[in-house]
Amino acid sequence: MKKIAFSLLAVVAAVVVVLVAQKRPHEISVLPLPVSVQASGDEFKLSASTGFLAEGAGEAGRIAADLEAEFAARTGLEFTEPQQEGKNILFVLEDGDENGSEAYHISVTKDQVVVKAEAPAGLYYAGRTLGQLLFQQGHSWVLPTCEIADAPRFAYRGVMLDVTRHFFTVEDVKRFIDRIADLKLNTLHLHLTDDQGWRIEIKSWPELTAVGAACEVGEGDGGFYTQEEFKEIVRYAAEHYVTVIPEVDMPGHTNAALVSYAELNADGKKKEPYRGIKVGFSTLDTRKEATYRFVDDVVREISALYPAEYFHVGGDESRVTEEEDYIYFMNRVKPIVNKYGKKLIGWEEVANAAVSSGDVIQIWKDRQNIDLAFSKGAKVLISPAEHAYLDMQYDSTSRIGLHWKGYVELDRAYNWDPAEVANVEGDEQIFGVESALWTETVENFDDISYLTFPRLAGHAEIGWSPRESRDWDGYTKRLVRYAPRLEAAGVAFYRSPLIEWN
Ligand code: ACM
Repeated sequence: MKKIAFSLLAVVAAVVVVLVAQKRPHEISVLPLPVSVQASGDEFKLSASTGFLAEGAGEAGRIAADLEAEFAARTGLEFTEPQQEGKNILFVLEDGDENGSEAYHISVTKDQVVVKAEAPAGLYYAGRTLGQLLFQQGHSWVLPTCEIADAPRFAYRGVMLDVTRHFFTVEDVKRFIDRIADLKLNTLHLHLTDDQGWRIEIKSWPELTAVGAACEVGEGDGGFYTQEEFKEIVRYAAEHYVTVIPEVDMPGHTNAALVSYAELNADGKKKEPYRGIKVGFSTLDTRKEATYRFVDDVVREISALYPAEYFHVGGDESRVTEEEDYIYFMNRVKPIVNKYGKKLIGWEEVANAAVSSGDVIQIWKDRQNIDLAFSKGAKVLISPAEHAYLDMQYDSTSRIGLHWKGYVELDRAYNWDPAEVANVEGDEQIFGVESALWTETVENFDDISYLTFPRLAGHAEIGWSPRESRDWDGYTKRLVRYAPRLEAAGVAFYRSPLIEWN
């Protein structure tokens, strides 16, 4: 009996050895998960003679050159002048949907890599994917041979950064853009004004920044972006296929404006600066014409600084504005936004005003506002606090963050779906998905990193990958493989105990 068992063991061992010796396709790990990946078991080897070539319009060349620079830095290879006949990485901008499509196709064989897309954004995203495919094998740097076909589920995949509770420099914002773009997110919503600070230069109302910007939560000096600096953020974002959407929160969350100008206050007196973290105590005087001159100037000046279709009017937590005054206010603000060529986005409370199709309602807490938005023909941007708020603590030991919506560990940030939240079958009425980082407890880039990553990777996958492919186990494995990319970028991310980090 013992002998038989031993022989059996020997046979099993031999089979295992043979299986391991056989060439298996490399495990391909890309985050967010692509629509389709087929590995074919071989490798494309990079060498100094690998060319990074582009066919088609100008942006393809820049994207190829950027990937060359990234691969040179990572591999130490000094790529020489490319040979047309060599083993190259070729970016092809195909005829088709030049503006709209973010889809791409990658084909890696032993002899070449061909990337195809109809729009530059698709080529850029293919570059993000190739960056994750590259790995070191012995002394060589290789890409696994494969075919990848990919396209996003939602056209709008956003993140909001609150630069009011604490101010963040242009350099910080650029670093943030680098990281969100790497996850194929395409919109940066900047929360520019709130009770604690006014963060954007308005030339016709200079006290907003002379007075209203010099404050933030705690002891700090605050700060603001000049219009030129804001345009620089917009330009840099566009280079990373990220659209910037500014938010001016009103009629509540306006103490910084009320500190700056007496005439915006109901009692005609300036307010005191506010360094705390309470909400819902401030309001513009909705019945004064000065208020609408102010809104008109602010919307006019900011709208001229960026190309995106939307202007975010805030509208949340206006708890000291009477309901009829709130509705009156929003109904006057919407035509102003439209007059300057923008469509309106507002937090879900705005659904109570005269919104219509073309407007976007950003859902953060009450599901009934989704039905209200739909009843008016508006689409919904999905940002449920219990899943998508990056300022929620991971657990009771998190060093910063809030927990008014409970704790949001990585599983709670990943295991949900926008269509389920909106209670709809298809995605047609869903404008997109957005994560939000409020910064009451966030003082520097390491704080941003800790609360944003890796949770944002889960949100990115929800926005990009097909709903049917949602898979916690697969996601956590891909996250472990993605972590070195964050480390290389100096991102001090949260090492969740739910993940077996290497
Ligand atoms: C919000 O969290 N007040 C939109």
